[in-house]
Amino acid sequence: MSAQTTSLPAAGQHWNAAGYATNAGFVPALGAPVAELLDARPGDRILDLGCGDGVLTAQLAARGATVIGVDASPDLVAAAVERGVEAQVMDAHALTFEAQFDAVFSNAALHWMREPDAVLAGVRRALKPGGRFIGEFGGHGNVAAIVTALRAALCANDAGEPAFAWFFPTADEYAARLAEHGFQVDQIALIPRPTPLPTGIGGWLRTFADPFLAQVDTGTRKRVLADTETLLRPALCDASGQWHADYVRLRFSARIFSSQHSMQGQPQ
Ligand code: BEZ
Repeated sequence: MSAQTTSLPAAGQHWNAAGYATNAGFVPALGAPVAELLDARPGDRILDLGCGDGVLTAQLAARGATVIGVDASPDLVAAAVERGVEAQVMDAHALTFEAQFDAVFSNAALHWMREPDAVLAGVRRALKPGGRFIGEFGGHGNVAAIVTALRAALCANDAGEPAFAWFFPTADEYAARLAEHGFQVDQIALIPRPTPLPTGIGGWLRTFADPFLAQVDTGTRKRVLADTETLLRPALCDASGQWHADYVRLRFSARIFSSQHSMQGQPQ
């Protein structure tokens, strides 16, 4: 991935569509289970929150749904539009939609959004009555080995102690937030998913570790990256040389709480 990036930072992160496609093409590819959970139908109006470069958004649209993608990164939104997806740059903490969607969908994006209550309030507003919110993102324990190694390498190189960059809640914590925002949670679970990295841990770190490295000078950054790789090799690289990231997904399905729905089967 080029060191040149053009997009808005999220928690110090910069995005580059070409680098993302090379180093993180597995992200939309591994979104199939959560897309199945969404089960988009022809005629559904769906908001794809954090649509990235639109690969998964296009697949949802191919099922006959009307899908609009939003993402904070102009570079990724431009890539999505080029793919033929309807997409716009928008901060997920300040969604501007009112009762327009049958479902809000999100894959591998909610962990970048540091104020989950602002996001959930916007999702709730964007949905029609009875609308669904289906998603998957990094949950508690996600990339724990990678974060620990990065912190150790930064410390060993006197490169400071960055604040934790991501939102990785437990299932109970996120279920409680969903309920506070008027959602009924149909399912929610943490799913460990060791994830093969097509360009090794180096590609992953160059694509995703800006929040830890943005303030570090070029020479130190090189040493931190090399030390991180050395620390992680025994845990995340197998005998054939294949690297895996220690991903833990939080997958959920929720709908706007309706007292009618919750009364079904209850004595009146
Ligand atoms: C994730 O998809 O879990 C993830 C990706 C990059 C940084 C942190 C988490």
